[in-house]
Amino acid sequence: MATWWKEAVAYQIYPRSFKDSNGDGIGDLNGITEKLDYLKELGIDLIWICPMYKSPNDDNGYDISDYQQIMAEFGTMADFDRLLAEVHARGMRLIIDLVVNHTSDEHPWFLESSSSRDNPKRDWYTWRDGKNGAEPNNWEGIFKGSAWEFDPQTEQYYLHLFTRRQPDLNWENPQVRTAVYDMMHWWLAKGIDGFRIDAICHMKKEPTLADVPNPDKLRYVPSMKSHLNYDGLLEYVDDMSRNVFQHYDIVTVGEVNGLDSAHAEEWVGEHRNRLNMVFQFEHVRLWETEAGIRPSPAQLKKIFTAWQEALEGKGWNALYVENHDLTRITSRWGDTQHYWRESATCLATLYFLMQGTPFIYQGQEIGMTNTRFSGLADFDDVSAKNMWRDMTAQGKSEEEIIAFLTHTGRDNSRTPMQWDHSANAGFSEAKPWFQVNANHTIINVAAQRQDPDSVLNFYRALIALRKKERALIYGRYRLVLADHPQIYAYWREQDDAKFLVLCNLSSKSAQWPEGDLSLDGAKCVLGNAAQIDEPYRLHHWETRVYQF
Ligand code: NOJ
Repeated sequence: MATWWKEAVAYQIYPRSFKDSNGDGIGDLNGITEKLDYLKELGIDLIWICPMYKSPNDDNGYDISDYQQIMAEFGTMADFDRLLAEVHARGMRLIIDLVVNHTSDEHPWFLESSSSRDNPKRDWYTWRDGKNGAEPNNWEGIFKGSAWEFDPQTEQYYLHLFTRRQPDLNWENPQVRTAVYDMMHWWLAKGIDGFRIDAICHMKKEPTLADVPNPDKLRYVPSMKSHLNYDGLLEYVDDMSRNVFQHYDIVTVGEVNGLDSAHAEEWVGEHRNRLNMVFQFEHVRLWETEAGIRPSPAQLKKIFTAWQEALEGKGWNALYVENHDLTRITSRWGDTQHYWRESATCLATLYFLMQGTPFIYQGQEIGMTNTRFSGLADFDDVSAKNMWRDMTAQGKSEEEIIAFLTHTGRDNSRTPMQWDHSANAGFSEAKPWFQVNANHTIINVAAQRQDPDSVLNFYRALIALRKKERALIYGRYRLVLADHPQIYAYWREQDDAKFLVLCNLSSKSAQWPEGDLSLDGAKCVLGNAAQIDEPYRLHHWETRVYQF
């Protein structure tokens, strides 16, 4: 069925690093409002802002201490209301991050819960006695270390899958659910257009909280099996949908690690009325390769095609290659050393024209890259710091740790947005809260606006093309040249309209026999090369879109 959110192009904002409007070095809501015309011009319809709520910032806002207040550094509720009104005035929509697997340890609910064993909110979180003088079980948290923290006041441990300052809410408790739904209705009454739902895959825990098998005799054991997409989780999603989603014309996107295409329909099958889309992680897992080794086109084809086929006619994909938890796509899958522009634009085309709603992460549209780190002090991310601690304990050298975090660290995508070539990249008048990538002198919005061949202008053309051609939104996806080792190619077809997307995912030229795929009668409607010399040969990282 046709709907606005299927036709939308979405843009993700990490507010701390997007634009500082008041000269304190930290991005803010008014900074976002200032840049709405930029987003509109790019062709954006839907904005997702990462958490902007009151928070002690242990995990940069993913630890919320008040769901109904704005983080002081980001502005006020009046600023938020103005931002929302300005978004709507431009015909765009805004979704916010719903972080309810956990709260901050400073949230009043947790302060009450931890105040005594018989507090009425005790059961809003998961509290347990220790076992033999240690944690209640051997689960390792997602950010390393134990998933439990001891509270000396009440002499029990509480469960936290992320940092110790992010205690997990107990979703078994109906009062918790009601409180969360009330908060969601409150935001929806303001007119927001939906939610990106953080860590929804972890909300259900194995009910007995048993130890996980520990053959390697680790102190804490990776515990995903006990809380990732655990049986019964979808009942929570149904409950949330019945109580909240179904009463509004909104869009919902769940962050669902661990989901494979075979089970995708259970989450986003349209008749199920659960979520509209999920951010799945299968292609992201391919990033967990060694530094400098790209996933093969064959691996990418397998995963993307499986998702496209699994949801054809049944549900809808969320398409993305970057976010605030990942390294930059051009650094990871592309070739920033030799073919930065070509690989940035080729990778853009690759995912963007599949069936689904494409999301762009701030800075991706100008081909921002990973940054450099030279020591512990250069990192901000709590997970990087925990990793540093653990790897040091394992005897790894500083060089090894830096190399690992340079390749994998979330801080890579959290450097300030590069608006221009000035000292603070046009992000702030003051020293930014986090290092600006040194390449902002070359890679920035101001320069790319002027340059017809820039990555930015390529994104603009790509978005315009998708908007113009319904087949590129609703058409069926079909893989072609399936076994080609360098080229990723696919059709998008609807009724008589037919498009071919070609991407050479390598730093060498690539060709194919005309007999395998003929371009007869086709017109090239988008491409990243100056000209087409040989129709059946693509230059390094060349991409072309043909209309038949
Ligand atoms: C996923 C978010 O994207 C990430 O940034 C955060 O650290 C965790 N969930 C915990 O909220």
